[in-house]
Amino acid sequence: MSEMRRVCVTGAGGFIASWLVKLLLSKGYKVHGTIRDPSIEDTSHLMKLDKATENLQLFIADLFDYNAIKAAISGCEGVFHLASPVILTGMSDPEEEIIRPALVGTKNVLKACSEANVKRVVVAASAAAIACNPDWPQDTVLDESSWSDEKFCRETKSWYCLSKTLAEKEAFKHAQEHGLDVVTICPSLVFGPLLQSNVNHSSSLLLSFLKGSPELIEIYGSGSFVDVRDVANALLLVYEEPDASGRYICSLKQIQIADLIDMLKNIYPNFNYHNNIPEMNEVNDLSSEKLKKIGWKCRTLRETIYDSVRCYQEAGLLSME
Ligand SMILES: NC(=O)c1ccc[n+]([C@@H]2O[C@H](COP(=O)([O-])OP(=O)(O)OC[C@H]3O[C@@H](n4cnc5c(N)ncnc54)[C@H](OP(=O)(O)O)[C@@H]3O)[C@@H](O)[C@H]2O)c1
Repeated sequence: MSEMRRVCVTGAGGFIASWLVKLLLSKGYKVHGTIRDPSIEDTSHLMKLDKATENLQLFIADLFDYNAIKAAISGCEGVFHLASPVILTGMSDPEEEIIRPALVGTKNVLKACSEANVKRVVVAASAAAIACNPDWPQDTVLDESSWSDEKFCRETKSWYCLSKTLAEKEAFKHAQEHGLDVVTICPSLVFGPLLQSNVNHSSSLLLSFLKGSPELIEIYGSGSFVDVRDVANALLLVYEEPDASGRYICSLKQIQIADLIDMLKNIYPNFNYHNNIPEMNEVNDLSSEKLKKIGWKCRTLRETIYDSVRCYQEAGLLSME
């Protein structure tokens, strides 16, 4: 019988990574998952996944701890790098809180991948590394050739966009210098049911819509969303597709936030919605054609919302209608 394929997922307990670990286990992979600090992060959901007892091994590894990262990656044919701080507001020191961890983390992970002769690394990048580009023509759909502008990100204090841009550029630089096969997935804002017990940042936005607290809306003005399960599928798709290369946008067609709220009201009329939805700036839509061409399929936003809200209700995060 052939040896089972062994891969590593960094930040395994996170929102997207948990769905990816679940998918990998279901496909028969052996998975090494890195966790920053199990005394803070509840990882019990991972060990409850089907086949986790036999095929999931957890490693404690902060992104700054090269030796710990190296130990987790050793023996793996592939790596999915998802660990990165997702913070959008309230930073007192963005350089230390988000930019350095994203960048140093990517450098450490890729260095360990090169040392371990990993065959392919799939990096969870972001549409945030594509869309903050003032030079892109208005009314033109963004594709993978667009990069967020570093100067513009600094001027507009778009620290998360900057962290994802610098980290993704670093990944491709390392790939070129060391002959490592690196592919990136750039999802827009990710919604969907939670496997983990905490509420991650993007899910807190959808929850804030349902709770009538609109303060987060302005942060995510783009109106581009994607389902967490479809992001996990995309990450595995580009890992397994031999011809995959470069960047892949992963997003549904853009909708206006007001239309999203209308959709929510239509499905769930009894929540306490906020009535004054701020006007959004015109933002370019994103094209996922490159990903679709290699076979990516996605759920409708309606299905994502339905499953997300059902999950939040079951987890007691929303009062029942
Ligand atoms: N959710 C979205 O809308 C979205 C969209 C596009 C791209 N992405 C990208 O997808 C990836 C996963 O995001 P997510 O939404 O699933 O977020 P998440 O649930 O917050 O997961 C992020 C993970 O990174 C880990 N991490 C952060 N800093 C670390 C450090 N210094 N050392 C080790 N681990 C560290 C976190 O561990 P702790 O729990 O210990 O903090 C967590 O497990 C990120 O790279 C993110 O930028 C997310």
